[in-house]
Amino acid sequence: MDWVGLELDAKAATPLYLQLCNGLSDLMVDGKLQPGDQLPSERKLAEQLSVSRTTAVNAYHELEARGLVRSYIGRGTFVSSRPERMGAHFAWRGKVTEAVQQSLDMSIRSLIELDAADTISFGAGQPNLESFPIERYQALSDHILTNYPRAALGFLPTEGHPHLREVLAKREGVRPEEILVVTGTQQALDLISRCLLSQHDSVVLDWPGYVGAIQSFRFAGAHLCGWDFANGDLDELEDIFLKKRPKLLYINPTFQNPTGATLPLEARQGIIQLARSYRVPIVEDEAYRDMYFSEPPPPTLKDLEGTGLVIHLRTFSKTLAPGVRLGYVVADEAIIDQLSLVKAQSDLFNPGLSQLCIAALVDEGDYDKNLQCMRSSHLQRARIMEKSLKEYLPTNSLHWQSPKGGLYLWGHLRDVEAQALQQAAARHGVSFASGEKFFPDKSGKRSMRLVYSSTSQQRIVEGVKRIAAAYAEVQK
Ligand SMILES: Cc1ncc(COP(=O)(O)O)c(C=O)c1O
Repeated sequence: MDWVGLELDAKAATPLYLQLCNGLSDLMVDGKLQPGDQLPSERKLAEQLSVSRTTAVNAYHELEARGLVRSYIGRGTFVSSRPERMGAHFAWRGKVTEAVQQSLDMSIRSLIELDAADTISFGAGQPNLESFPIERYQALSDHILTNYPRAALGFLPTEGHPHLREVLAKREGVRPEEILVVTGTQQALDLISRCLLSQHDSVVLDWPGYVGAIQSFRFAGAHLCGWDFANGDLDELEDIFLKKRPKLLYINPTFQNPTGATLPLEARQGIIQLARSYRVPIVEDEAYRDMYFSEPPPPTLKDLEGTGLVIHLRTFSKTLAPGVRLGYVVADEAIIDQLSLVKAQSDLFNPGLSQLCIAALVDEGDYDKNLQCMRSSHLQRARIMEKSLKEYLPTNSLHWQSPKGGLYLWGHLRDVEAQALQQAAARHGVSFASGEKFFPDKSGKRSMRLVYSSTSQQRIVEGVKRIAAAYAEVQK
């Protein structure tokens, strides 16, 4: 196939990746590419067409979004169906708004798929699910359905079931009016974006950072400005505030995804001072706050701030299970009201049964017991992973900071690129996330994120051995 025959015009208004995607789609329409045909790797295609690798990657993502190709880790990208010029199926993809087309990023989905595949997964960020109190949850569900069917099955306030709001408010030391129950932090980020961001607003976010936040803010049309909090340079942050006048600062300050780093107290205080002087609201995503191994983290930005500038986010996804799909926002009542108006347009309210089960788990101490269990099992798993990496990978080939909590080990490869290693590792039946997913500009090519929390100790050792085998292959 003569890929070079594809004509791309760097000066045209249509972005290069869309031109490339459309060109490939035309080859499919013309039958020059058939379902089942393998496309060249993104790197090869980029070389042949003299475009950047990002252009090729985005073109493949776009084709995948249109349902025309499928990518399989370790195997490559294949034509999955032929686009129809006429008749047959209605072309829904073509009707999707430009904002959706432009922001289609498969990163989160591909991380979750990694976990679904029949591999040892260090990919998806989930906690140790074996510790989930299943029997207690079953008993609570039965009890609630039998005794409180209306509360479990009927309509509820958008802000959350009053009992859950009360329990959470007590735990956080705020009033119930300052709590909004949400479908996980991801929904909170979506609501915040829709409520506070307009096209072209600037948002500062930690970098590398949480993919879901990058996607939400990007979808809102915001301009993303990265700040590397692991460096903790407050002058740099002030410079960004001065130059970009951002609408928000998003930060994941404790056992951050993906680096596992925690912002020290002085840096927290410095950020608050800057945010106050420049009137920049802070979205504090504390998904991992409770997942410390031995030493509790410094106080939250919300607690340190105290004048309503901080929107504080919590989720049960990392402390119980992502399948619970519940989280909450703690913030000033005025912004809780606005967020809940937007939430009402999206899903009205969260299911009463799960809200009441979680309220009971938190109120009656099972939740804290589960946290204790998780902390110790995660610690053991983290240390086994570190030990295995030291034992099976060549000396100094991977550098990392020992995690003190959270779910992640963030490593830096000395000699090879993470994506190449990821692809080889997939062939050996083990998955992890390569670093560029966590940078809006797709840098971080030598970094990789390994989730140690969700895999048994035995499988961790086996998984690391497989990564070592893949490493040897890539290094050759
Ligand atoms: C920092 C951060 N916030 C939020 C989430 C997602 O939370 P939820 O499942 O509550 O939507 C994640 C998941 O990886 C995360 O790393």
